[in-house]
Amino acid sequence: MHSPSATDSKIVLITGASSGIGEATARRLAADGHHVVLGARRVDRLAALVGEIHAAGGRADHRELDVTSLDSVRAFVEAAHDRLGRVDVLVNNAGVMPLSRVDALRVDEWNQMIDVNLRGTLHGIAAVLPHMRSRGAGHIVNVASTSGHRVDPTAAVYCATKYAVLALSEGLRQESRDIRVTVVSPGFTHSELTDRGGDPEAQAAARAASLQLAIPASAVAGAIGYAIAQPGDVDVNELIVRPTAQG
Ligand SMILES: NC(=O)c1ccc[n+]([C@@H]2O[C@H](COP(=O)([O-])OP(=O)(O)OC[C@H]3O[C@@H](n4cnc5c(N)ncnc54)[C@H](OP(=O)(O)O)[C@@H]3O)[C@@H](O)[C@H]2O)c1
Repeated sequence: MHSPSATDSKIVLITGASSGIGEATARRLAADGHHVVLGARRVDRLAALVGEIHAAGGRADHRELDVTSLDSVRAFVEAAHDRLGRVDVLVNNAGVMPLSRVDALRVDEWNQMIDVNLRGTLHGIAAVLPHMRSRGAGHIVNVASTSGHRVDPTAAVYCATKYAVLALSEGLRQESRDIRVTVVSPGFTHSELTDRGGDPEAQAAARAASLQLAIPASAVAGAIGYAIAQPGDVDVNELIVRPTAQG
């Protein structure tokens, strides 16, 4: 395992670390020598991952987290801050993608996407920003999507949340001279994203495209690791990482 100096080892909080891109990012950043703090609802998954990272010589801990609740996100951040003394990086990664046509009016799933993908990202920012502003340093990494750059049928609401994450990130970047803001926008990536909710036909189509095209979650984790590893005066604002064969 790479041993970083005291200055390049960071305290990194990752939301949605129980599977897919968040899990791969936890593994990658722990292997890079950072202390990772993992949050999600499936704590059994998080505990197993923390055990694997410890066994490999890395530093990690976890806490139950529901990003739709500001109280839960604040408790996640405060616990890490109290225990470790600071928060260097927040990776706002938790997300859901129940696909359907707008005229199917699956309003509960629209609200779930807004609550997790957009409000969850805002909650993360609200919880870490006061700490980062008072230190005059920090890094917020928001996981958006190629769906934040183009709209496709059955993905209108999902795309709306990801476009919003891009807008929010750019606004925060413009207001910040001390905090780095990065958007990482993955294309089709192996994960559990298409496993839950949505119109069965739309989800099956997304699953089929993903099976054919998807890149490993470690490819996206590598992009996040790259942005974090840059010197403090270098702010990588956006990375799009998609399969070569994706249109
Ligand atoms: N896979 C792709 O092709 C792709 C492409 C572009 C963008 N993305 C984005 O990448 C991010 C990660 O998704 P993924 O592909 O890795 O899918 P995934 O395997 O389904 O992971 C999603 C993660 O989000 C967590 N999550 C969901 N609701 C949550 C909540 N209320 N509170 C806390 N955590 C919650 C899940 O954990 P629990 O269920 O345990 O809470 C899980 O750890 C998402 O923002 C997604 O939109 C993915």
